[in-house]
Amino acid sequence: MHQYSPGGPPEHLKGPGSRLMHRLRELMPSRQGFEDVSRFRGIERLGGGCMGDVYRAYDSQRDGLVALKVSKGTTSSKVSFENEARALTRISHTNVVRLLGSGVFSDEGAFGGRQFLIMNIIEGVNLKDRLAMEGRVEWPEARHTLMQLCDALSAVHDAGIVHRDVKPDNVMISQGNATLFDFGVSERIASRYSMRRLMGSRFGPGNLDYTAPEVVNGRCDGRTDIFSLGMVMRHMLSGKALLNDVWLMGSVMGAPQEPIRRDAEIPEAQFRIISRAIDASIDKRFHSASEMKAAIAALP
Ligand SMILES: Nc1ncnc2c1ncn2[C@@H]1O[C@H](COP(=O)(O)OP(=O)(O)OP(=O)(O)O)[C@@H](O)[C@H]1O
Ligand SMILES: [Mg+2]
Repeated sequence: MHQYSPGGPPEHLKGPGSRLMHRLRELMPSRQGFEDVSRFRGIERLGGGCMGDVYRAYDSQRDGLVALKVSKGTTSSKVSFENEARALTRISHTNVVRLLGSGVFSDEGAFGGRQFLIMNIIEGVNLKDRLAMEGRVEWPEARHTLMQLCDALSAVHDAGIVHRDVKPDNVMISQGNATLFDFGVSERIASRYSMRRLMGSRFGPGNLDYTAPEVVNGRCDGRTDIFSLGMVMRHMLSGKALLNDVWLMGSVMGAPQEPIRRDAEIPEAQFRIISRAIDASIDKRFHSASEMKAAIAALP
């Protein structure tokens, strides 16, 4: 038994290195990431949705510009942020956004108590904005972007993750190169291409235009992302955001589906790749992102 001496607690309970302090830190791991907002300067909003806002900011600790994603502070955004951080920690690829850090802001200041993620800043244009401004993308550029997105998806799937929200909004183009981001609704899967039922999955993807039918039944695997990339390819080459709600719901209900028609702007060879990627039957799609990449690469 340790006795308190008149001069204060015994040595083993004193100071930041004491066993008591160590135990307290173990018991309160969430406090370790608390950060003062003054670490970031020149904060400027880039965009955001229901889960969080993304800012460009100078990070004084890293001495450089970063993308700072700050949670809305709701329960679902907390889960989404933890999801995104968990996924990005496992992935390292030039065409996927890099997670540089994460934490919670201390109670003082505008973002008091909110979670944040620090990511590398991509100075470029969002593919959604690019398509809205300029319409369709010429094949050589689309080919380059799509091949890079296949590489990104290969890395994601190799890490045992399905993105589940591949769409132009979640792709940045910078100096001709594509970066995939926004892993808020991603899911872990045991094996890359074996279907996983999402028991109790908290989130559906935000936009059904690019969503595979199996997602509505709470299932997914790497081929779910291949479907979405096929829809992105279709949008890039036709210049149209094609609502697929009717087709999607028909597929989910098991109704016989008319084959998706080729838009006049899309050449036949490219359309064959799209058709295979977006087949309602998951087993008929490309088996992997690298297989889809090879098909795209084969078209000059
Ligand atoms: N690393 C980055 N570099 C530059 N801009 C980014 C970066 N990350 C996000 N952005 C911009 O911020 C916008 C919102 O980002 P993101 O898609 O991650 O959030 P979100 O759509 O609100 O997602 P969620 O609703 O899941 O939180 C993007 O559309 C993009 O324009
Ligand atoms: Mg997004």
